Amino acid sequence: MKKYLVIGNPIEHSLSPKLHNYWFEKNNIDASYSKRKINQSEIQGIISEIKDNKLSGINVTVPFKRDIISFLDVLSEESRITESVNTVYIKDKKIVGHNTDIKGFELSLKKTRFHLKDKSIFILGAGGVVPSIIYALKKLGVSKITISNRTKQKAENLKENFSNINIVDWGDQPEFDMIINATSLGLSKEDDMGLNFKNINKEKLFYDVIYNPKETNFLKTGKSLGCKVSNGKMMFIYQAFEAFRLWHKVKPEINEELENFLDL
Ligand code: ATR
Repeated sequence: MKKYLVIGNPIEHSLSPKLHNYWFEKNNIDASYSKRKINQSEIQGIISEIKDNKLSGINVTVPFKRDIISFLDVLSEESRITESVNTVYIKDKKIVGHNTDIKGFELSLKKTRFHLKDKSIFILGAGGVVPSIIYALKKLGVSKITISNRTKQKAENLKENFSNINIVDWGDQPEFDMIINATSLGLSKEDDMGLNFKNINKEKLFYDVIYNPKETNFLKTGKSLGCKVSNGKMMFIYQAFEAFRLWHKVKPEINEELENFLDL
């Protein structure tokens, strides 16, 4: 039986095992997927397990998406530019790292039917997921990306890999068509961004990478303004979909039954 794993710290709340095991059953794949909380020093051991065929693949989550890179033999173009790997597998005896968060974000946006081409995007945050978001947005042909992060230097650092992004001070608010919360503000229900969204028309999209809680205060604000809103649920599902496709060469089904099963 093939074995898969998601590694991270913390890992208790990861829904990846639930999702992948559901798809194994639906697609009659003889495999199991579990989660393992690890420390940085345990990455090497996990890579050895892949090399020894004890593991067929792993997903990587916070805080190891960048740390794992130095242990890999081959990086996809996407992982190299975003310096972020969430999916690992072995090919021709080489350990390969890929980033399916990009496609996950892109496919989740398709589902909103919001057209990104030539639009201005405002991103709040500059943490681990932001390079993947920028990569996807550039691919979708947006015209302008502005980033604001509490620690401004971290936003400035993104310029090393992404030219043509604009940085503004935390609290400043440029014009935008779509605004993305990529900070961890909102994980607690009472978290508030402290932004003032007066004089905003209804044509905007408010997107929160957070999916638990389902509706952060940020999304509540978007809704109250009559704007379109989306949480990070579909991004989570689609990044797993892409990893599943890579590992098993099967496109798993995403439907209402699955969404109810995940109960997100
Ligand atoms: P990491 O930075 O380790 O990748 P992350 O969870 O991916 O962690 O990112 C957390 C993001 O939420 C960061 O952009 C962080 O801002 P800082 O870079 O200034 O830390 C942002 N964030 C977390 N708590 C915040 C708060 N109370 N106010 C504003 N931004 C916050």
